[in-house]
Amino acid sequence: MGTALPKKVLTNFDLEKLVDTSDEWITTRTGIKERRIVDNNTATSDLVVDASKKAIKEAGINPEDIDMLIVATDTPDNAYPSTACWVQKGLRINSMPAVDIVAGCTGWLYGLELASGLLSTGGYKNILVAGGEVMSKVVNWEDRATCVLFGDGAGATIVSPTDKSYGLLSCVLGADGNLGELLVQPAGGTRLPASEETVKKKLHTVRMQGNEVFKHAVRRMGEAAFQALKIAGVSSKDISLFIPHQANIRIIEATCKRTGIPLEKTYNTIQRYGNMSAASLPVTLAEAKRDGRIKEGDLILFAAFGAGFTWGAAVLRWGSSD
Ligand code: ACO
Repeated sequence: MGTALPKKVLTNFDLEKLVDTSDEWITTRTGIKERRIVDNNTATSDLVVDASKKAIKEAGINPEDIDMLIVATDTPDNAYPSTACWVQKGLRINSMPAVDIVAGCTGWLYGLELASGLLSTGGYKNILVAGGEVMSKVVNWEDRATCVLFGDGAGATIVSPTDKSYGLLSCVLGADGNLGELLVQPAGGTRLPASEETVKKKLHTVRMQGNEVFKHAVRRMGEAAFQALKIAGVSSKDISLFIPHQANIRIIEATCKRTGIPLEKTYNTIQRYGNMSAASLPVTLAEAKRDGRIKEGDLILFAAFGAGFTWGAAVLRWGSSD
């Protein structure tokens, strides 16, 4: 695993100078204290390349050993080519397939499940599954209801097959496109191409009905977690560590309550990084490992929810490859 977090820290106190908000509101309503922000020249693929290099090193492989690149992102470098192709260029490799996944904050879990399916065919050995976002370039810095929530970052994981008893035990994914309007970046695609008017109206930035997203997130993450536990044949009591999507500490608390998992069993990075969308899960997993919160044989539960709407949960038994 590898992570990349921009150096620049934007605190709640910095935001107080930009919009009508307060450290107190942001902390109590979301749990966020600060977030990382890229400089003007950095794009999503730059962060993902950085994170991927670290993951490749930690896995003890060479970049050319990767036989597929999957990058989950809602903030690609360009509409096309894919960010995964730019990452391939950044890693100085070629030929293997490279593809992006657009599944909101659930993107890395979607990538993990797709990688798992491909690995089971026997045709692949090392699949790079990364989540990377530069949310700071798609938020409206005049909208206090959204600009305080997001941060930039990337996390990369190398996923390989194993004949041992650890690994991905279950993964449940879902989506409901009927609710897409509740969390959307309206302009810039074929529905509403870029024009002077779309720029003036700031339609290239995040539009979110926070309350609605909140309700659906709690319900779907809880349901998916129960299904993933059931398929894995374990109960919430068996879980050593719960890594939920890092959107709002109150969503995490409510999901814990629903699933019966004590809050102390969660590992959270939201305080320091805010919501990094598809990068939140891989970054939080890598930091939990670095922090000594994961040991051999531990059962880890993931749950996520995001734009689409999309959602998912997975149970993983942790094991090292050596
Ligand atoms: N500072 C001060 N006041 C604020 C701020 C702010 N930054 N933002 C909103 N408020 C105000 C509102 O204007 C409103 O004031 P009013 O009552 O006078 O109208 C009041 O606070 C309450 O607003 P709500 O939107 O009801 O606040 P809520 O408690 O729902 O919190 C939040 C808002 C944090 C956005 C919450 O709804 C949330 O976290 N939603 C889920 C977001 C999420 O999970 N996203 C995941 C996916 S992201 C992706 O996929 C890219």
